[in-house]
Amino acid sequence: MAPAAALLLGPFLLASLWGVSTARSLLSRLGDHVQEVQAKLGQRLGEPSLAREGWLWQPLDPFNSSDQRSFLQRYWVNTRHWRSPDGPVFLHIGGEGSLGPSSVLKGHPGALAPHWGALVVSLEHRFYGRSIPPGSLDVAQLRFLSSRHALADVASARIHLSRIYNISASSPWISFGGSYAGSLAAWARLKFPHLIWAAVASSAPVQAQLDFSSYNEVVSRSLADPAVGGSPECLGAVAQAFSELDAGLSEGKAVLQSEMRACGPLEAPEDQAELLEQLEGLVGAAVQYDQQVGVPLDVRGLCHLILANQSRGPLSGLQDAIRLVLQTLGLPCLPSSKAAAVAELKDTNPPDVGLGYRQWFYQTCTEFGYYITCKDPSCPFSRHKRLSAQLQLCDQVFGLSPASVAKAVSRTNTYYGGLRPGATRVFFVNGDIDPWHVLSVLQALGPSEPAMLLRGTSHCSDMATPRPSDPPSLHLGRQKIAQQLKVWLQEAKQDLGSP
Ligand SMILES: *[C@@H]1O[C@H](CO)[C@@H](O)[C@H](O)[C@H]1NC(C)=O
Ligand SMILES: *[C@@H]1O[C@H](CO)[C@@H](O)[C@H](O)[C@H]1NC(C)=O
Ligand SMILES: *[C@@H]1O[C@H](CO)[C@@H](O)[C@H](O)[C@H]1NC(C)=O
Repeated sequence: MAPAAALLLGPFLLASLWGVSTARSLLSRLGDHVQEVQAKLGQRLGEPSLAREGWLWQPLDPFNSSDQRSFLQRYWVNTRHWRSPDGPVFLHIGGEGSLGPSSVLKGHPGALAPHWGALVVSLEHRFYGRSIPPGSLDVAQLRFLSSRHALADVASARIHLSRIYNISASSPWISFGGSYAGSLAAWARLKFPHLIWAAVASSAPVQAQLDFSSYNEVVSRSLADPAVGGSPECLGAVAQAFSELDAGLSEGKAVLQSEMRACGPLEAPEDQAELLEQLEGLVGAAVQYDQQVGVPLDVRGLCHLILANQSRGPLSGLQDAIRLVLQTLGLPCLPSSKAAAVAELKDTNPPDVGLGYRQWFYQTCTEFGYYITCKDPSCPFSRHKRLSAQLQLCDQVFGLSPASVAKAVSRTNTYYGGLRPGATRVFFVNGDIDPWHVLSVLQALGPSEPAMLLRGTSHCSDMATPRPSDPPSLHLGRQKIAQQLKVWLQEAKQDLGSP
């Protein structure tokens, strides 16, 4: 998720859900970039001094009371608006990245807190950011990383924080989150209805899926969508560029290395696949983060480049796009070594900058899948990419067989309910440009299970700070979230006796 706009919002939380077949695809790099830009913006806008950092001791293994090991989990808190002790608590749940101060200043929690006199708290996900348990990230240790562990942390944090801040038992806790953390927000309500009163789940892919080919179905639909500056011509030109590139690579055209700004030679098929993966990520990011603050290219910008100089050949627009994206990210060239990507995923040293490629890849192999493939006839990218190659990586990096990954994904859906979680008071919010929306709840499942699909908006856009350029649907969508919250907080007054 990477959002964006002139004034942005709670970036940190917008987790990013990268394509994961390589450690650092352009999709993930662009997602990180967007989050960073927005976090900085959020801090500037939100008086960072209002956000206080705190630490909680959490059990490493919350499911084994004989295991005494623990680790420090980071949280942020903003008491500025709180009507102590029984105002509501807005809990911003972190996902697969680090959380900064803007997590309690911006986004729905920050925006809605003044009106409701809410305490705003955010909780960094275990194994990400500064909340990494001591030791290496070997497989023995990663056993303590899962969404279930993260939810156990939420429950225990709620107990600890209630004590630390003397929060009344009648204060309703509302969970918020975007992307994977949006799923966690929904599941926190699902699994702990006695602790979490209601949830707002933005762009939450609650359905785990091994072969996520529908991601690229939405990418092609969005590239052709005039509402965001796309067109059928643009989609066609992207497809033509990729097929030209595919053909050139298989003919072994050496000049492509410099033309496509690849960091290394492209003779080996796996390095060719790596390059194609990066470029697919470049296009995917333009769609996923469409119109967000910090993206170098959105759908309109990409389509403009792709169509502008077609007389120079089908690859020229893509080359222009590569140049722009490399410049934005400060990269000299496009990483194209499969071996280097695998080595990065195998590195068990905890990262010092908050990014958790290895950890998130582990979660895809043990819980979610989400492997993006190109099977749909409309997919504009190389057809060479196979699910099997991505599954092999789980084996190579963690020793997890394809069969175990498939089983893990289906267990996740059994455990959480997939597209029919059966939780009440969860508001699912999605954007139709966002490729992830197809794994989320798009229609209300009942009167207390509302959902909305916002036209013309991308991944977690609703969490960003409002901008004048926002489409009307987004503007209206934010109002609906505030109205729904009002209903639920009134119910809390009646049921919990909060004033
Ligand atoms: C629980 O923790 C104890 C103490 O560390 C350990 O000996 C035991 O094997 C653990 N049990 C399980 C099921 O992991
Ligand atoms: C906690 O809140 C209660 C009211 O709900 C108050 O009586 C008590 O003094 C507070 N304790 C602390 C330590 O602030
Ligand atoms: C198209 O090509 C011309 C000359 O090569 C260049 O000046 C121009 O910036 C290009 N347009 C775009 C949109 O890149």
